[in-house]
Amino acid sequence: MPLPKTVKLVEVGPRDGLQNEKKSLSLETKLTFIKKLSESGLSYIEAGSFVSPDKVPQMENTQEIIINLPHSSAITYGVLVPNERGLINAIAAGCKEISIFTGTTDSFCQKNINCDIEKSFLNYEVVCQKAIELGIRIRGYLSCCFACPYEGKVAPEVVSNLVKRLLDMGCYEVSLGDTIGVATPEEVRKLLRILSKRISLDSIAVHFHDTYGQAIGNIYASLLEGISVIDSSTAGLGGCPYANGASGNVATEDVLYLLQGLNIKTGVDLEKIIKAGNYIIKQLDRENGSKVALAYQKNR
Ligand code: HMG
Ligand code: MG
Repeated sequence: MPLPKTVKLVEVGPRDGLQNEKKSLSLETKLTFIKKLSESGLSYIEAGSFVSPDKVPQMENTQEIIINLPHSSAITYGVLVPNERGLINAIAAGCKEISIFTGTTDSFCQKNINCDIEKSFLNYEVVCQKAIELGIRIRGYLSCCFACPYEGKVAPEVVSNLVKRLLDMGCYEVSLGDTIGVATPEEVRKLLRILSKRISLDSIAVHFHDTYGQAIGNIYASLLEGISVIDSSTAGLGGCPYANGASGNVATEDVLYLLQGLNIKTGVDLEKIIKAGNYIIKQLDRENGSKVALAYQKNR
């Protein structure tokens, strides 16, 4: 399959990147980070999540973030919504797009969203019906598409069935999460080939965490199978609080460098992303998780 000519990047830094950080960031810092990202040419930024503040304290001010963002028709600001309560809060903030999220195993779902897979689908049926009535677009996430931190390897057929159900429920796209960052490129190709037998890969995105350093290889494998939507997080921040030991997401800077090398257009300015990444890691007092950002610093 020829490589895509353009790729859409879904920037998950302000949500996945920050949700696991212990240091609490002010509203102003988060807004500055998102504003810097918005100026880079990104068309999709996940700005936060409407989840329980007891479970994920860092996402507590999502409502204020959404309300205070400079709204532009060129950028979609997505938010995670785990249940009806989350949808009500997202509607109140004026969100035009939400993401629902579930997983491939009951153990992971239980830890993450306090219910099993079937109950999550029952909850999301109500969420999706309401969202569709209101013209709110719905993206889906499926976590643990290769392996689960509690139940081990996950069969591609399990992934395929759940992706189909999320699409049938109204998601325009489902992002395949390698939540614990263990997949390797041949496994990725195998899963995508199995999926493509019943689902158009135009409605599939990939979401790699980089625990074992395979994320860029996995993205290249995905591109070769025809994937053209990639989730990434500036400065490589990220991690799910319910997937112990999992490291950050693949860095947006590193994905951009790969795509530039392949002559694939994104409309995103790498230097502006590096600046946004340097800003947020300074606020967090952290090392930059992007190899490309570190190399730029050394070579300038
Ligand atoms: P629960 O405990 O089952 O909810 O939470 P409950 O209905 O029993 O209510 C308990 C309390 O939570 C109540 O408050 C509710 O009002 C409140 P109280 O009456 O005790 O004061 N509550 C809420 N508050 C705010 N917003 C809400 C909400 N719902 C209930 N929406 C829930 C269920 C899912 C909310 C909870 O378990 C939770 O917030 N979990 C955290 C989920 C999360 O954010 N996980 C990380 C993101 S997923 C991820 O990172 C993976 C991904 O990146 C892809 C990948 O990498 O694989 C997407
Ligand atoms: Mg994630």
